[in-house]
Amino acid sequence: PTAHRVADLLGRMTLPEKVGQMMQLDSREDLDDHVLRKHVGSILHTSPERVLRAQDLTTRTRLRIPLLIAEDCIHGHSFYEGATIFPTQLGMAATWDPQLVEQVARVTAVEAAATGVHWTFSPVLCIARDLRWGRVDETFGEDPVLIGELAAAMVRGYQGDGLKDDTAILATAKHFAGYSETQGGRDASEADLSRRKLRSWFLPPFERVAKEGCATFMLGYQTTDGVPITVNSWLLDEVLRGEWGYQGTLITDWDNVGRMVWEQKLQPDYAHAAAAAVRAGNDMIMTTPQFFEGALQAVEDGLLAESDLDRAVTRILTLKFDLGLFENPRRPDAERQRVMINHDDHVALNLQVARRSLVLLRNDGVLPFKKGKIAVVGPLADDAQTQLGDWAGSSGQADWLPTGHPREMITTVLDGLRELSSQEVTYARGADILTLEPDPEGDTFPDGQPRPKIVQPCAPDANLIAEAVAAAEDADYVVAVVGDQIELVGEGRSTATLDLIGGQIALLDALAETGKPLVVVLLASKPLVLPASARNAAALLWVANPGMQGGRAIAEVLHGLVEPSGRLPISFAAHAGQQPTYYNQIRGQHGSRYADLTQEPAFAFGEGLSYTTVEYGELHVETAVLRPDETVRASITLTNTGSRPSRETVQVYVSDAVTSVSWADKELKTFRQVDVEPGETVKVDLELPVAACTIVDAAGNRVVEPGEFVLLVGPSSKDLRRAEFTVKPQF
Ligand code: IFM
Repeated sequence: PTAHRVADLLGRMTLPEKVGQMMQLDSREDLDDHVLRKHVGSILHTSPERVLRAQDLTTRTRLRIPLLIAEDCIHGHSFYEGATIFPTQLGMAATWDPQLVEQVARVTAVEAAATGVHWTFSPVLCIARDLRWGRVDETFGEDPVLIGELAAAMVRGYQGDGLKDDTAILATAKHFAGYSETQGGRDASEADLSRRKLRSWFLPPFERVAKEGCATFMLGYQTTDGVPITVNSWLLDEVLRGEWGYQGTLITDWDNVGRMVWEQKLQPDYAHAAAAAVRAGNDMIMTTPQFFEGALQAVEDGLLAESDLDRAVTRILTLKFDLGLFENPRRPDAERQRVMINHDDHVALNLQVARRSLVLLRNDGVLPFKKGKIAVVGPLADDAQTQLGDWAGSSGQADWLPTGHPREMITTVLDGLRELSSQEVTYARGADILTLEPDPEGDTFPDGQPRPKIVQPCAPDANLIAEAVAAAEDADYVVAVVGDQIELVGEGRSTATLDLIGGQIALLDALAETGKPLVVVLLASKPLVLPASARNAAALLWVANPGMQGGRAIAEVLHGLVEPSGRLPISFAAHAGQQPTYYNQIRGQHGSRYADLTQEPAFAFGEGLSYTTVEYGELHVETAVLRPDETVRASITLTNTGSRPSRETVQVYVSDAVTSVSWADKELKTFRQVDVEPGETVKVDLELPVAACTIVDAAGNRVVEPGEFVLLVGPSSKDLRRAEFTVKPQF
């Protein structure tokens, strides 16, 4: 019946109505023009008031086709004041817990749906490799399997029990594909990727969520092999639609179609750009107002047939019918917002996710704290906006987001320690990080954001440092909260340096000299390079951007009220010049170290400590010779030899001994989380289909190459037990 309803409606639409249906425009602009003249199919960057106004306008249109309301709900509903803001995606990735991530997406969907949102541009499936990139925080880290599992969980959470449920919102897998493979970490540059490299690492997470039923895909800003992804027929037709059989809806990123004309100079005018985008299979064109006249012109000039538009419009209308919008346009509901936004259960979940996202990287025994006075220092100890991270109200992404989050909704590290400590807590800022100068170029990014102001690092301030040192000397423990301030994070905000900037290194050095036990809380959107004073501190806790409840979660972990259990979803470099440092690099690269430095990361993928010690026993493989259609069955014992419980993330990697083409030495294949009580020994059974032990061969096919393999199991990518197995040919 849906197909009939769509065909019937399509048959009654005029050409301008069809062109408009393919367009998504910014609700902050002229809504009358968008809805009444351009007949847009969708708006983004909304508020409940603007959604209501736009929906009222559609009742004055000829066919009253409901609008799709789209929003960047990235780690919570970014555009609604007071909505629950969770840890960033990178923070969530440190939980290694798909179920928890699914719950985050479910809660986000419930809150977003109450405000009239039908569609979120999340999750991000980009692989973070160059740490200088400003959007590392938006990713699930560096590993395709971890990314795929967590992204699939997020898709399930957003889309709920089916699109007809009025708390389900459409998920978007973005940015298809390879956007993160930047030049020098700079945002949205040419992604120099071979098809084999795409197939090997960048495409698998997308294929995973395509199979999960992710309703939409967003095509990134980048160009690969000279062709913008928006019009890349190999990727769109051959791989996505062809090989994967993906039936969902494709949306461009911000003004991708217009940028082919005014920025990239790849199309002579908007008629040609519109024709190229439609023919390549795009369904929804984000924020290219000129697409309207361009597409009409293209049809008139014979560059496009009306039937080319019909395919895209059919898909968009089907989505609207699938969501049931013709019966219920899902208007924003003030009462539902009052009840659901930041509901107590959502606050509790947020706290739980924040706890689980914290990664303890070093502890000489100082943690958890015993009795004694605590000096809290550092410029980020009480920085609520940085703690929320990018895409959160008036922070980061940023100055241009219309909303903010009331300060009292956010527990900073200082708040958390003051609330939870029975002992005295003092505070000194100790350092400033940066000042911002206006950018003389003063223009905007493709998505309309003002280009960032120029960052000027602050010089160390002797008075601030002296105050912090005095506070440290007067205390039993020092907690230094340092990292990257929100203005250093986000789209178009890549950083040339990975160092702690401003007065932070001088502050840490001075604190280390006091000899007081120094606990460094690294509130950093992405892995930064740490000075010796932080690397050798008594304890080091990486907390990403931990969201509204972050400060409380951090205080709980420092006091031992909660066990630290996060594991790194991304490697930490020892030096910015080592980029990239991801663990699954091609093996056997001759000269794979620098004259002045090894390529060893400061902290490896998968690392993270607990407050106890867990020993991994021998790894046993049940059957050591298998066919490609069989499953590797293995087991390992974990013994908690300490006095506190631990949640272990058992990581399973595979190394293919000899491959026909160059390949990574080991790759994560699966993982399991296991609780181990003090003194307890737990046997963990593991299963891995041999079919997962693939490489991408020279012809670009994903294959299992029979021969010798090593199964590697352990608590991190650098601490693994081994067992060999052989894969014999199928017959
Ligand atoms: O969803 C985002 C995307 O990640 C970057 N460009 C703008 C889009 C819409 O805000």
